[in-house]
Amino acid sequence: MRRLCLLLAFFVSPAMAGEESVRLKDGEGKDKVITQCGLCHSLDYIPLNANIMDKAGWEKTVNKMIKGMGAPIEDGDKKIIIDYLVSHYGR
Ligand code: HEC
Repeated sequence: MRRLCLLLAFFVSPAMAGEESVRLKDGEGKDKVITQCGLCHSLDYIPLNANIMDKAGWEKTVNKMIKGMGAPIEDGDKKIIIDYLVSHYGR
């Protein structure tokens, strides 16, 4: 039992330290996406949705995150983030 707890702590703590196991593709805007989109949920959401999203889909989702969920993303960053998502995780 004790061993299991140690193992769990090992796997859980990097995530709690804010490090993501998800590796996003390199490209302009990646750092913005990591800092702004990882605030509330895992960055997994991005690759998981990649094959169903086109440009309109990502625009809608990013707008939903800003207006609906309250993501603190500035207008200038929004375009960079959407461009990144569309070119690396678009359908
Ligand atoms: C202020 C918090 C917050 C931020 C910041 C945020 N999201 Fe979300 N996101 C949510 C919530 C809440 C949900 C819906 C609940 C859930 O499914 O966990 C969600 C769901 C999603 C989904 C699942 C599909 C959907 O529409 O529900 C995707 C994809 C997504 N977010 C992408 C992003 C991207 C890309 C960014 C950066 C631009 C981002 N999120 C930033 C809160 C946030």
